[in-house]
Amino acid sequence: MKNLKLAVVADLHHYSRTLGDTGGAYYRRSSTDQKCLAESGDITDAIFAEIAASDCDAVLIAGDLSNDGEKVSHAEIREKMARLAEKKPVYVVYATHDWCNSNDAARYEGEEVIHEGVPTMTPPELREYYRDYGPKDALSEYVCEIGASSYCVKVKEGFRILGINDDKNGKGCAGYTDEHFAWILGQIKEAKEAGDTVIAMQHHLIMPGISMLVNGGQIIADAGERADAMADAGLEYLFVGHSHMQRISSRISGNGNRLWQINLGSSSGYPAPWTMFTVDDTRAYVDVNYLREFTFDGEVRTDEYIKEHTLGVVKNIIENADKGEEALARQLRCYGLDWSKVGIPYPVVRKFAQHVKNDSIKQIAGYINALTFGKGIDKEAANLLDNVKLSNLVYTLFLNVFDGSVNKFAPDTPVYRVVTDAASLPRRFTKLFPIPALKSGKPAELFAKIEQTAKEVLWPSGPDNQHAILDRRK
Ligand SMILES: [Fe+2]
Ligand SMILES: [Fe+2]
Repeated sequence: MKNLKLAVVADLHHYSRTLGDTGGAYYRRSSTDQKCLAESGDITDAIFAEIAASDCDAVLIAGDLSNDGEKVSHAEIREKMARLAEKKPVYVVYATHDWCNSNDAARYEGEEVIHEGVPTMTPPELREYYRDYGPKDALSEYVCEIGASSYCVKVKEGFRILGINDDKNGKGCAGYTDEHFAWILGQIKEAKEAGDTVIAMQHHLIMPGISMLVNGGQIIADAGERADAMADAGLEYLFVGHSHMQRISSRISGNGNRLWQINLGSSSGYPAPWTMFTVDDTRAYVDVNYLREFTFDGEVRTDEYIKEHTLGVVKNIIENADKGEEALARQLRCYGLDWSKVGIPYPVVRKFAQHVKNDSIKQIAGYINALTFGKGIDKEAANLLDNVKLSNLVYTLFLNVFDGSVNKFAPDTPVYRVVTDAASLPRRFTKLFPIPALKSGKPAELFAKIEQTAKEVLWPSGPDNQHAILDRRK
């Protein structure tokens, strides 16, 4: 039986340390980012070393190679790529962060963020720059509207890789123009007729991973239609990045053809994953590996270091709110917020932060039940969570968003019952107080999405996001 083994990563977001890695401005940038910045190069080195030592046939990198499109970050990551390519063929697509779509490229000096003197790259430049990693060996290449490249390459007997640049659909959104899409469908059909299996990758999502509430802004234009047409043409597996959230989802077209989307986490942020994907004639196997250790500035850092960095995004606010008004103001500044304009007295914020930080789920449920005449939260379930602090549960669920719910809570567990009760409060509130504006339209949709999101983060509805066996189409 023929098979193909791919190591797949996404959202490396390589940040060159020559752009600055100390001082207040760097701290503000770094501490509000799920990903590690200064550490990204060392993390990538460690992940690439694991991949080079593995038995994969090839490596796929699904976009956002650089932090913000800086030329210097591209130069460094391309060097790392070249070293890996000495061991394994490497195929990449690049995306908006690789050509600085947001104009955010900057360097950091003391308290200053400096945008001048940080050259970035354009999509046509990237096409040349990464030519060796896909287009050079392509059976076919398509140059998109922005000058970036999509390509199809035969990676091994019986298998092709379809690398898609999905940055623009010709109407200002992520996606593909009709002409580009016709080329994509053509490549899938051609491969099928030749008896080859196609594995595709692009940067943006084609279906929500967790929910439309979380992923709605990360999906390409006309996603459902495009996904169904690709599935009907014969595509079964599509790798995507962008959300930085590890999750496997699928969608079945009207003709009964299923397309699997394997959304990869960011390799430079928690949980620093790289995925081994094996496909044969009957099944595909998804196995996510996590980086356990890397060396940064000569010191060994573990996965806990990366986890703490990601957690810092929420933890730093809660912690600093309890450390005095100045600490809170400093932390809010990291998020671009001016404390003097918030208009809430500091003691109120401090009290709230203390409750969030120190209270148990049982205590918090008690307050909610006092306000809702005992109807808000399942009391029996909450009583079983006397030893669980709200803050710890918030941190666990926050990490679940990125790691594909490593810590699952089945529907019969107290945590599931309490959290879904809390998530359903807005909907139930509108039932108690039938305000027409809240019952229909946008608010009702939003409340339904909140509930769906909570359920998906607690207990994913799809296959296991870390280790899955996905049957192939007959
Ligand atoms: Fe990204
Ligand atoms: Fe992205």
